[in-house]
Amino acid sequence: MPIPYGRQHITDEDIKAVVEVLKSDFLTQGPNVPDFEKAFAEYVGSKFAIAVSNGTAALHLCTMALGVGRGDKVITTPITFAASANCIGYCGGEVVFSDVDEKTYLIDIQKVEKMLRASPRGTYKGIIPVDFAGYPCDLEKLRKLADEFGLWIIEDACHAPGGYFTDSNGKKQNCGNGNYAELAIFSFHPVKHIAAGEGGMITTNDEELYNKIRNLRTHGIQQIPERRLYNHGLWYYEMQELGYNYRLTDIQAALGKSQLSRADAGLERRKEIAALYEKKLGNAPFIKGQSGVIEGHAYHLYIAEFENRSGLHKYLRTKDIFTQVHYIPVHLMPYYRQFGWKEGDLPVAENYYNRCLSLPMYPSMTEEQQDYVIDTIKGYYHK
Ligand SMILES: Cc1ncc(COP(=O)(O)O)c(C=O)c1O
Repeated sequence: MPIPYGRQHITDEDIKAVVEVLKSDFLTQGPNVPDFEKAFAEYVGSKFAIAVSNGTAALHLCTMALGVGRGDKVITTPITFAASANCIGYCGGEVVFSDVDEKTYLIDIQKVEKMLRASPRGTYKGIIPVDFAGYPCDLEKLRKLADEFGLWIIEDACHAPGGYFTDSNGKKQNCGNGNYAELAIFSFHPVKHIAAGEGGMITTNDEELYNKIRNLRTHGIQQIPERRLYNHGLWYYEMQELGYNYRLTDIQAALGKSQLSRADAGLERRKEIAALYEKKLGNAPFIKGQSGVIEGHAYHLYIAEFENRSGLHKYLRTKDIFTQVHYIPVHLMPYYRQFGWKEGDLPVAENYYNRCLSLPMYPSMTEEQQDYVIDTIKGYYHK
């Protein structure tokens, strides 16, 4: 049986939840969407949650709602999936990549600070940090900087439902709880913690942003009747701005909700898998993993840097172990090179890219399978 780097876990309850929707009156915009939103907001501890068709749509709605416009500079990390940056370009903004920290692989807050201090106030509009691999960003620190320079924050928490960082008062701050970032986003792609086929969620504590995003999710149609400008009758709806159809179906919401009810168990299993990798591979000379404050890590991925990474990747494939590389630095994608980004611009990210590998990490992986992965890696270096 091939061992992938990640995969969904579907139970009989998940299937039952989906089949119930298929037999019901509403395939989209039924009761499961608001139920899922409510349960998700409770899970992360935010006031509001808005379900959308995928994480990319979530990012797009956030940059729209925050008013990104032509030429607006927004900062993000190169070590992420391209969508974290692309959402800036969707609105005509300019993506400014800032290098990562060599221990955490997250955007390096000190480098961001340096960049902000080197330019006149107002040069940058916002920042999109990513809780990469499930490692939560210290948003308290980032918020202080954002406040000083008048920036907004969109937390890309696609990898981190259930993750948290500990603030300076010793309080746990859940990823996406809205205490430090204006908006946060999640993805329900099958390799993520919560699988809905496709799907996404936006969380916030800001009621105005919540209302605006709900309108933008549905073509810009005003969702609050009292805020309509006209009324032609009971059939009337009113499009007030240019929006999209970025809705989640009730089928997906039912699956997402069912998966969410097991999210804690899945997270615990991910932590066990990470601890076992740490224990059995941790001291080997060929490995260096994410380090620092690991406590609230949500372990979407288990990443380490390896000597001869490409050789190892190839070798593991011959043994039916399908590891992955997360990520090719986004600034080196041909699309971003056209704006002048090139090799050498972000050396920490590029050096990391040359060595990183994501090992299999998913709750249904058995201990036997994990031992096989570990032994095969060791076998490669000791052959
Ligand atoms: C960090 C990050 N941001 C955004 C996305 C986009 O999410 P989706 O695939 O649901 O559009 C992903 C998912 O692949 C991701 O990993």
